[in-house]
Amino acid sequence: MLENISPPLDRDQLIMQAAALADHLHRAGVQWMPRPNEQAVQELKTRLFSPNAEAEGAGNAAASTMEAPGAGTQTPVSRPDSASLSAANPSAAKPTPAKTVPTKSAPATTSAPTAAGASPLLNAVAKPYPGASLPLAQRESELVALASEVAACQKCSQLARCRTHTVFGEGNANARVVFFGEAPGADEDREARPFVGKAGELLTKMIQACKFSRDDVYILNTVKCRPPGNRNPDPEEIANCRPYFEKQIELIRPEYIVCLGAVSGQALLDSKLSVGRLRGRFHPYFDSKVVVTYHPAYLLRNPAAKKAAWDDLQMMLRDAGLL
Ligand code: URA
Ligand code: SF4
Repeated sequence: MLENISPPLDRDQLIMQAAALADHLHRAGVQWMPRPNEQAVQELKTRLFSPNAEAEGAGNAAASTMEAPGAGTQTPVSRPDSASLSAANPSAAKPTPAKTVPTKSAPATTSAPTAAGASPLLNAVAKPYPGASLPLAQRESELVALASEVAACQKCSQLARCRTHTVFGEGNANARVVFFGEAPGADEDREARPFVGKAGELLTKMIQACKFSRDDVYILNTVKCRPPGNRNPDPEEIANCRPYFEKQIELIRPEYIVCLGAVSGQALLDSKLSVGRLRGRFHPYFDSKVVVTYHPAYLLRNPAAKKAAWDDLQMMLRDAGLL
């Protein structure tokens, strides 16, 4: 049935895109979609992808300064609109085969060089999230239930006493990309929403530079209550709050998790390494790919690091077939 398909997609590319689509729908909670046979997809991928296939196009990261696209800098992603976050629209991806197959079952982390170098071992060590991927409505209702549990939480006596509101997180329960911050600040504590202050403004620009809107992605923090004086959350507080962020991520099971700063990166990956050591490559968290980059508050103090942060986001976009 695929014999009569004419260029630009050849038969193998079409099979790969069908597999990507099926995988994406499955991840999005569409239960009736048969999951692609991972072995077959992997085999096709090995056959199709040569290291040279992804090398071209990796060099255009340098120009961006990650200012808002509206501020006149280049727009980095060639997708037609932010609604086409889904891999389900093959025409939204660029024509090079290696970039058009952003699947979870066959993540594009072969020996292909990305700007900063993805780990070739990632696919080997990634294990699936436990249980089934839930339909969107059920994810949303479970998140609502979890948010009310968090609102009543008293596990950290100091944080629970000092907070005005808990800041659970917000966004698309079906997001491909989750942004994972540190802790609410004064603005977030007042508004009960993540990243609404100065750092939040920069995060919004970073999201928009990726051609997403805040509604496309999901944004959460490591701890849900503001530490007084904006101190870092301590290890015990992070441990107390861990079941909440783990559950949020498990419900959404995104393809990518962008950890903003050392606190969230170290907490998620159970690592003691600095952002400088963790950034520039993918790390597995179940079968999500984790990108660790600089926190927007750090970028506000150190604008020179914006280039590196933008490289990290581009690494993700390229891997997702969105660049
Ligand atoms: N910094 C964070 O890490 N999270 C927020 O929500 C706001 C600022
Ligand atoms: Fe509970 Fe998390 Fe707030 Fe601690 S930080 S009191 S664990 S919601």
